[in-house]
Amino acid sequence: MTTVVWAVANANVALVKYWGRAPGPGHQPAGTSLSLTLEGLASGARVARRPPRAGADRVAWAPPGPVAELGRFVAHARAQLGIEHPLDVVVTSNFPVAAGLASSASAYAALTTALAALATGRPSADRLAALARQGSGSACRSMLGGFVQWRPGDDVGAVTQVAPPEHWPLAVLVAVTAAGPKRVPSREGMRRTRASSPFFEAWLAAGEADLAAVREAVRSRDLPALGAVAERNALRMHATALGADPPLLYWEAATVSVIRQVWRLREGGVPAFFTVDAGPQVKVLCEPGDAERVGRALADVPGVLRVLRSRPGGAPRTVPQPPSWALSGGLSQNLSRDLSWTVGEAV
Ligand code: PMV
Repeated sequence: MTTVVWAVANANVALVKYWGRAPGPGHQPAGTSLSLTLEGLASGARVARRPPRAGADRVAWAPPGPVAELGRFVAHARAQLGIEHPLDVVVTSNFPVAAGLASSASAYAALTTALAALATGRPSADRLAALARQGSGSACRSMLGGFVQWRPGDDVGAVTQVAPPEHWPLAVLVAVTAAGPKRVPSREGMRRTRASSPFFEAWLAAGEADLAAVREAVRSRDLPALGAVAERNALRMHATALGADPPLLYWEAATVSVIRQVWRLREGGVPAFFTVDAGPQVKVLCEPGDAERVGRALADVPGVLRVLRSRPGGAPRTVPQPPSWALSGGLSQNLSRDLSWTVGEAV
């Protein structure tokens, strides 16, 4: 009987954002979102059986994080998957946590994948996506690789792959502008936006057109078309959140500076496009051939702490050995050198 399982999952960046839950139970989204899974920005989950007599589960984030939510998720998942033994669970990530980099998405996708390996029977991919969503909505999109759509509903096909990672070898650069957790977790931010932003219904209505446009841009691998919609959708999400009472401002000064730098790059003929999730970091899409130049331009912006490089990534998987970054505990320092620019340093 397997007693220890490691699983690894990638983060994702939303091109059409999930920002607002449907009323009622089950963490259903109010609208359909579409994301790109990001290779190498990963979380790892270690799940080990404890002796039956041990009683309770033991859960931990490394570095430390909100364990109460993690504990509730593990209890729920065990009941869903028929895991009778109590468990030892540790979840870790190789990039800044809880700061708008979707670390909760990769964390809960990795954990769901590890738990599934201990399940009685073989839970379907749809069931596992629905389970991952209970930890963090966007985690269900990290259960698949490439371009992934998530629409409301629990039926088969609520989470689907629109195109595999190899369909379009884009580069994705992440300009990290602040370390540490974001001020308002997305769950609370969504609740507040829905309850008090006068722009919320308009935001939902506009999302339908963005979704159709992104699907078409992905199909035809049209970066200017994809980028235009991704920028518009991100700005509208933040405009809607700014309209909440009290307002939600996730950006730092450097966030705006990076956006302006992306626009300057474009004026100079480099097709680069940004998006921003619920945090101060800016993700930039460009052609792989332009990634070096774009990465340096982002690292030059005052206030940018570092720039990470990624590309379309694959689905979660169990791994026989833990990834090296998961063992060393240094985490974000451990992204491989070729994946990151450090500000002021030649690559
Ligand atoms: O998955 P959550 O509950 O952390 O919410 C994610 C919200 C955004 O990242 C802002 C948008 C998205 O679609 O991922």
